[in-house]
Amino acid sequence: MYTISEYNEAAKCLSDRLGDFNPEVLIILGSGLGDLAEICPDPIIIDYKDIPNMCSSTALGHKGRFVAGILGEKRLLMMQGRLHFYEGWTAEQVVFPIRLAKLIGIDKMIITNAAGGINTSFNVGDLMLINDFIKLNGMNPLIGKNLDEFGPRFPDMSKVFDREYMQLFRDTVSSFGDSVREGVYFYCTGPQYETPAEIRAMRILGADAVGMSTVPECIAARHCGMRILGITLVTNMASGILEKPLDGDEVIAAGKAASAKFCKYVIEFLRRLS
Ligand code: HPA
Repeated sequence: MYTISEYNEAAKCLSDRLGDFNPEVLIILGSGLGDLAEICPDPIIIDYKDIPNMCSSTALGHKGRFVAGILGEKRLLMMQGRLHFYEGWTAEQVVFPIRLAKLIGIDKMIITNAAGGINTSFNVGDLMLINDFIKLNGMNPLIGKNLDEFGPRFPDMSKVFDREYMQLFRDTVSSFGDSVREGVYFYCTGPQYETPAEIRAMRILGADAVGMSTVPECIAARHCGMRILGITLVTNMASGILEKPLDGDEVIAAGKAASAKFCKYVIEFLRRLS
């Protein structure tokens, strides 16, 4: 387990690198959605490998760096690439950057991901506001001694996703004449895609989309009291819905195709965020 001094050492390094730039919002960019960081003017770029005690991402479509800069008039710390449990990191290593963000004073998070659509009314390319999640596996970043500096032993998860942020995002999307889906995200560790039987079971349980990220970070972020907006991009229909196998390249390609509208909505959301 990390000690508080290991978190503090990393946070000090991150804030030294940021100088007097104090980010207000953490944005985690999912597979293929990294363009938001690319369009940021005058960014401060910090590789994860340069932060003590932090691991670096190895996943398809993920770079391993923080990009800090201003978009939508807000000071952002973006993660271009995240850590996944399936890469072999511990649950605690996966959420390390969330806690770093908290230690440098950030209390708002926009978290994004690519996921498979379980809800058969969804289409590839749809964006879904996450209104809740289901996690039925044992992966959990809070197992172990509780770090009271971050939050309580038994944190509440009754409203993981901030209702005001959800409304603001809906309003933002409608201001462009578009609409956004809404639903429940089912977390699997991966790395294999699901079986058709698993997808049918998830649908019965009330899930709308399935993916291999986001939930660990949201648990850690709620534990330390951050407000969260969660956005899923449906990059494929989940296993068994269409008569074709799933593959990772399709997921990245769908991310790239949706990137422009995703960036437009997020920047306008930030502009409206008080
Ligand atoms: N399943 C799990 N994770 C995913 C999927 C999927 O179908 N698509 C993108 N990430």
